[in-house]
Amino acid sequence: MSNFPGRPTLNNPDLLQSRNFVNGQWITAASGKVIEVHNPATGELVATVPSLSQDETRRAIDAAGRAWPAWRALTAQARSRIVGRIGELMRENREDLAAIMTAEQGKPLVEAQAEIDYAAGFFTWFAGEAERAYGQVLQPSVAGRRILVTKEPIGVFAAITPWNFPAAMITRKAAPGWAAGCTGVIRPASQTPLSALAIAVLAKQAGMPDGVCNVVTGSAEVVGRELTDNPIVRKLSFTGSTEVGRVLLERCAKTIKKTSMELGGNAPFIVFDDADLDAAVKGVMASKFRNTGQTCVCANRILVQDSVYEAFSEKLKTAVEALVVGNGTHTGVTQGPLINQASVNKVEQHIGDTLAKGGRIVTGGKRHSLGGNFFQPTILADVPRHAQIFSEETFGPVAPLFRFNTEQEAIDMANDTPFGLASYFYSRDLGRVFRVAEALEYGIIGINEGLISAPEVPFGGMKESGLGREGGPNGIDEYLEVKYMAIGGLTSSHGKLH
Ligand code: SIN
Repeated sequence: MSNFPGRPTLNNPDLLQSRNFVNGQWITAASGKVIEVHNPATGELVATVPSLSQDETRRAIDAAGRAWPAWRALTAQARSRIVGRIGELMRENREDLAAIMTAEQGKPLVEAQAEIDYAAGFFTWFAGEAERAYGQVLQPSVAGRRILVTKEPIGVFAAITPWNFPAAMITRKAAPGWAAGCTGVIRPASQTPLSALAIAVLAKQAGMPDGVCNVVTGSAEVVGRELTDNPIVRKLSFTGSTEVGRVLLERCAKTIKKTSMELGGNAPFIVFDDADLDAAVKGVMASKFRNTGQTCVCANRILVQDSVYEAFSEKLKTAVEALVVGNGTHTGVTQGPLINQASVNKVEQHIGDTLAKGGRIVTGGKRHSLGGNFFQPTILADVPRHAQIFSEETFGPVAPLFRFNTEQEAIDMANDTPFGLASYFYSRDLGRVFRVAEALEYGIIGINEGLISAPEVPFGGMKESGLGREGGPNGIDEYLEVKYMAIGGLTSSHGKLH
């Protein structure tokens, strides 16, 4: 029997790498230390990856630093071609990449395939944006002067990414970084490093010069610390919890790095009495149960207006009970496992707290009979506002229903959190659509829409949900410095200052 019983069968086995990619070479840790990658659906060992030391991480940063001058000196068109080609290769290898992702992360294959499309889309989008990093010529306030504004790549970036989107969170950072003319060191989550390493295989195949793309694995304390402390790294992009983001920001303060922080959320999903209830149910299913509830933009609090509360709850119950829980590789499965037992415990704890405070279970509420990391898709009703689930992200398949009476009450409840990433509401009243959208303190507002993620949108949050925007027309600016040149002493052909 293989040492790796969880290893997926691939058309191109080369895509599943158990080494790190540094300076165009595949390397192991000199210490021989490895991290085990397990399938969260079966517990089987999928692969091992190196656990790099601080010195080895530093060497990856040095390689990125050395590669930077030549990479930034290429024309935007030349960089664009390579960046765009990686996206094409991802699409060509979609089935294998999805199989790797399901093996390491657990999401159903159809969702993994959709994530590969989403992830590849960032390469296509930023291949275009590479050519649109425009400068400006400004009107001077002093005669005889000209003012030019240019945009330049910031230098070496580090990307620290989470386990819930093993491909898209890499490409949402690396594609704009490389397109802008930066070189990078990527540290994927230890639970899901294989998708990142597969992207490195494709980057090399696309013609990426050595040192531009580096993927390192290892502990957050060792690898993460070097990425935040090393002065060669000029930019850190992080997706993960607000708690960890705060620590990384503190560390980056020492060398005043530019940062992008895509942190926690506590998304409200408001269903007004004038909403199309069937559309709203579809929206909740897409937002709440995508990736088994493990996204930063998952609806975390479903606020339903009194007069439609029971009708909405009934319709949602029917939809939730149609979900199929199981191993993501099995046909028809729509809900995979949670990532680990700590996540299962948190879900259980949120449910227990809600029940103790007077809420009730509409459906689900228990660990799934499949055992392991599986949990029943759950709806909770009459959830009081002082329940833990009102103020904390569950990151699991639990839809808690809260009641409200007036539009203002819904807005107040929605904004009653330090987080401000995604929010959603359903209404067919145009006046209300604008009133509510403008009152919500969130970076992302889904209006009659439960799926708000796409390469062309500026994704990011307000308040404690983060800093900066990823994707869309703004995403590349996070990797660019603005420089202005004041050119003085210019005279006209008559010798006069203009
Ligand atoms: C996240 O959960 O951090 C990202 C979700 C998305 O891109 O849709």
